[in-house]
Amino acid sequence: MGKKVTLSVIKADVGGYVGHSSVHPELLSKAEECLAKVKSEGLLIDYYCGHCGDDIALIMTHKEGADSEKIHRFAWETFETVTEVAKELKQYGAGQDLLSDAFSGNLKGMGPGYAEMEFEERKSEPVLIFLADKTEPGAWNMPLYKMFADPFNTAGLIIDPAMHDGFLFEVHDLIEHKKIVFDCPKELYDMLVFIGAPARFTIKFVYRKADKEVVAATSTQRLSLMAGRYVGKDDPVMIVRSQAGLPAVGEVLEPFAFPHTVAGWMRGSHHGPLMPVSVKDATPSRFDGPPRVVCLGFQLAEGKFVGPRDVFDDPSFDRARQMALEVADYLRRHGPFEPHRLPLDELEYTTMPDIMKKLESRFEKVE
Ligand code: 13P
Ligand code: 13P
Ligand code: MG
Ligand code: MG
Repeated sequence: MGKKVTLSVIKADVGGYVGHSSVHPELLSKAEECLAKVKSEGLLIDYYCGHCGDDIALIMTHKEGADSEKIHRFAWETFETVTEVAKELKQYGAGQDLLSDAFSGNLKGMGPGYAEMEFEERKSEPVLIFLADKTEPGAWNMPLYKMFADPFNTAGLIIDPAMHDGFLFEVHDLIEHKKIVFDCPKELYDMLVFIGAPARFTIKFVYRKADKEVVAATSTQRLSLMAGRYVGKDDPVMIVRSQAGLPAVGEVLEPFAFPHTVAGWMRGSHHGPLMPVSVKDATPSRFDGPPRVVCLGFQLAEGKFVGPRDVFDDPSFDRARQMALEVADYLRRHGPFEPHRLPLDELEYTTMPDIMKKLESRFEKVE
């Protein structure tokens, strides 16, 4: 078993209430029931059931390691069970993210998103769990870059000797299914070439360079690339460890004071600002948005979740929310025009290709 604990955050949208704006309380209580049962049977050390918009997140600690068949199977079966409730209540898009008919060993390519990391719990272990709705995994690129590579954001990169060597960023190419590790700050400029294109390249893990300790993990699947059609956006999750040789909680949160533009608003087909909100305000409504992010803060104590604190429920993020609303107004006025609407190649998995096909024969060559 060893001293290490695994922190798994596994999420899915298995039905929206109303439309795609939130999760019905009965779905959450069914998920809680499943979590309580496996905790009592000893599979989990502890759990917390989170949500953001229409997505449910199973936040779990255990000793099974990352990519454990047992944990992934439990999450899959829980989402299936919750889908039954969603179907009874005729929730919107019941079972939306369950792309496969049956579980086969691992959640990879099956629809639910997951961020996991295994580590030895420190004397004090503050962890921040981010859940987002109406966006995609690349939404974490800019905040992660700022937390772990930008000294204008993270003073500790300069002041704290434990961080001074920098961080390693594992970046995944979601189209070509390849990965590469960038050594930062040495390779910052190289890395930015890729992570500046968040629809394709996403940061999967961050490690502290000095001891290769894992410090951040994200979920990276893109449903449309798996299903070959639009099935909803990928509404990602992220785990970040903090303090004592890592960015302070405030340094982890600071990037969200700027509501950067992300893809995923309305039908997964529009850009909008990522608005940091409290859990109670994580109910995207205007034009099904704007995209939201919540942050649950925990102190881990022998794998137990002490918390959460609803971290963005703080007036210091009011200005970010205000800016997000202004940007939302500005972008909305573009209506069906880019850059509010995503570029054509990103609409490939919507019903757009059908319209193209219908008109294909009417296009004539221009002399
Ligand atoms: P304390 O002195 O309150 O522990 O804070 C240290 C710190 O890192 C704040 O950013
Ligand atoms: P979700 O990906 O959150 O289900 O939203 C889908 C959508 O079409 C919102 O307009
Ligand atoms: Mg939905
Ligand atoms: Mg969603």
